[in-house]
Amino acid sequence: MSKVTVIGAGAVGATCANVLACRGVASEVVLVDIKDGLSEGKMLDMFQAAATQGYKTKLVGVTATDAEGYKPTANSDVIVVTSGIPRKPGMTREELIGINAGIVKGVVGNALKWSPKAIVVVISNPMDTMTYLALKATGLKKNRIIGMGGALDSSRFRCYLSKATGVGIQDIDGMVIGGHGDTTMVPLTSKATIKGVPATQFLSKKKLEQVAADTMVGGATLTGLLGTSAWYAPGSAGAYVVDAIINDTKAIVPCSVLLEGEYGQEDICLGVPVVLGKKGVEKIVKVDLTKEEKAKFDAAADAVRKVNGALYEIGALAK
Ligand code: APR
Repeated sequence: MSKVTVIGAGAVGATCANVLACRGVASEVVLVDIKDGLSEGKMLDMFQAAATQGYKTKLVGVTATDAEGYKPTANSDVIVVTSGIPRKPGMTREELIGINAGIVKGVVGNALKWSPKAIVVVISNPMDTMTYLALKATGLKKNRIIGMGGALDSSRFRCYLSKATGVGIQDIDGMVIGGHGDTTMVPLTSKATIKGVPATQFLSKKKLEQVAADTMVGGATLTGLLGTSAWYAPGSAGAYVVDAIINDTKAIVPCSVLLEGEYGQEDICLGVPVVLGKKGVEKIVKVDLTKEEKAKFDAAADAVRKVNGALYEIGALAK
């Protein structure tokens, strides 16, 4: 038996819940939202699809405005946080901090009251800073707080590598580390492979640079097209991270986790490859970065640290 709570029944949260149900990742998925009827409606809609989809997951929709309202989420193994506002065209993820910090801190506190042993997966943006906030506000051990961004950015990286090479995405591997921001992501082009062969043997330096650039604005491109931020890839990446935890897959996934000296950084949550399993972050994997990649990673850390500083300015964390 396994139970996952997804907080936020908007575009990303509902997609995540749907992927979890369709793939049979957990035996029960609870979707929570502050808006009356939204979670109940989306979960009933999903249940109405169960006959044709063939999934057996127990689906529960909950409207919750305070800690008491989270009772149906009790004993969840994983809590996924998607509540908050998404960005509009022209906005950066960082601009969401003022509103999303209060929401994220509140919902994580409410959910953990009922599921004190749960592992928390953060999707709300600015994701690295929201992960840091969740970690500092709850005082949980670092293995239990995971920011999903790198899983999504790596999925987008593989998408653009596939488009550039014409090779099926299942034969393409690649990682994006660093921050989950348009200018702070570090797509590791030097380590991307196609059927085990370095991508550098398939694409010129210029083309690989274009793939990296497309990846970094992968979310912004969609915000421009859709008028709001994306949901299929973010929701799926969230479900992928949950699957690795619930089913103890030991997958290596780039995620935002607390660094304590790894990659030369500390007191910051930033995207690095980690092994995911039942305990959450089971290991931080160290890969050798080129000089250029390390410089970009350090610049990302500087930028994310500045955004984290705002948490203290707005009172989300005590100075
Ligand atoms: N408790 C529960 N749900 C809340 C709360 C709260 N305190 N505050 C807001 N919500 C809900 C909203 O009611 C809404 O249904 O969060 C949901 C967010 O859904 P959308 O507006 O559709 O946003 P979405 O596109 O899903 O993005 C959510 O994920 O990718 C990130 O940048 C994105 O931070 C954003 C988050």
